[in-house]
Amino acid sequence: MMAGPTAVATERRTRVLHRSSRETPPVAVGGHGAWLVERGGREVLDASGGAAVSCLGHQHPRIVEAIRRQAGALCYAHTSFFTSEPAEALAEELVGGEPGGLVQAYFVSGGSEAVEAALKLARQYFVETGEPARSRIIARRQSYHGNTLGALSAGGNAWRRAPYAPLLSEAFSHVSPAFAYREQRDDEDEAGFVARLAAELEAEFRRLGPGNVAAFVAEPVVGATAGCVTAPPGYFRAVREICDRHGALLILDEVMCGMGRTGTRHAWEQEGIAPDIQAVAKGLGGGYQPIGAVLVSGRIVEAIEAGSGAFQHGHTYLAHPMACAAALEVQRVIREEDLLANVVAMGQRLEERLVERLGNHRHVGDMRGRGLFRGIELVRERGSKAPFDPALRLHARIKREAFARGLACYPAGGTADGRSGDHVLLAPPYIVTPAEIDLIVDRLGEAIDAAIAGLPAR
Ligand SMILES: Cc1ncc(COP(=O)(O)O)c(C=O)c1O
Repeated sequence: MMAGPTAVATERRTRVLHRSSRETPPVAVGGHGAWLVERGGREVLDASGGAAVSCLGHQHPRIVEAIRRQAGALCYAHTSFFTSEPAEALAEELVGGEPGGLVQAYFVSGGSEAVEAALKLARQYFVETGEPARSRIIARRQSYHGNTLGALSAGGNAWRRAPYAPLLSEAFSHVSPAFAYREQRDDEDEAGFVARLAAELEAEFRRLGPGNVAAFVAEPVVGATAGCVTAPPGYFRAVREICDRHGALLILDEVMCGMGRTGTRHAWEQEGIAPDIQAVAKGLGGGYQPIGAVLVSGRIVEAIEAGSGAFQHGHTYLAHPMACAAALEVQRVIREEDLLANVVAMGQRLEERLVERLGNHRHVGDMRGRGLFRGIELVRERGSKAPFDPALRLHARIKREAFARGLACYPAGGTADGRSGDHVLLAPPYIVTPAEIDLIVDRLGEAIDAAIAGLPAR
């Protein structure tokens, strides 16, 4: 008799290939505001919106109703035949005012797709404008741009890249991140640090041959891989100047830090510059539907109009009407209810409470971020900034301890160099209340203490 798959199958706890094959996570069955509800009724305070996604919290009645309305009218129409009312209205909402010279929006299904499209659009721009030699992309170490192969090639996180290295494109190279806590030298002030980073980027353009570079890509505030790292003042102005001088495009990846997360709709508004191409996702649809977008500047749109007449790209679910309808309502709620004012106010409260609770903690090396996008970096020793042994997986222990206390936060490892280092990322919803901010900090403080106390004795 054949040893059939059924013998094995009956022993499986789940048919879903989960993130970890060692455990099946609890089942989420509901939510309200900043809270998620597990089967059985336990409520978990969602302090990170998953991975900085749920900007309006859960089950917001206006978004649920907008989805219901759109489902009743039209669920899908392929973009090679039709446009849709929600897609047109969402584009108007995002780029109707031409922020920073961005004039059109291209809708995809998530962040990685947005980054892929941004990279290809940059390349096509130079094919259209008669500079086909421009095929190189410069990105930064310790960045994350997504997990599809193009986006992963752009990303500079050693651990995420390692298993797939043979598949990654050699069109990408990486310079140092603007990560002051880890990269700024003791004998250097902020201006000196910015000047050194600018010189390194300039040198990379020269090494590649400036006429060969299509774009520089960066997250204005680095999210998942480094824990809410803001750049020092002047850094992005220097980057913009170098790209302009060499005729290359600036792509900003605001998939995580954009759409209001840092207190302005776009994080670049606080840097005094604007990109040529921008990727957004997470906070665009707030998790109500999978959606991402590429926002495109006038000169790129015009080059395609004057050239081939079409962006040579596409997916089946481009500008999905359900996704666009949900994102449109998310953006309207944020604007009409002036929620960015709450992002700024609650961001300040979160910063103050974190400083009170963890500012003198012997294992907290740095706290950083902007608005409701905050990172806490853990170190074994503050003076030397030495990280914990990565084998201890402190970040995973913190996540477990926090979850046991009814707090979902987003810890990760590899903070220092892609392999060692631990941080916790917080990204509560824009509707978070002062009491919830205090609860987040209380529970996180306890979780960090418990995780460190639980480390094996050395
Ligand atoms: C900055 C950045 N870019 C791209 C991505 C990829 O987005 P997605 O996971 O939706 O594909 C992420 C996801 O965390 C991100 O943080």
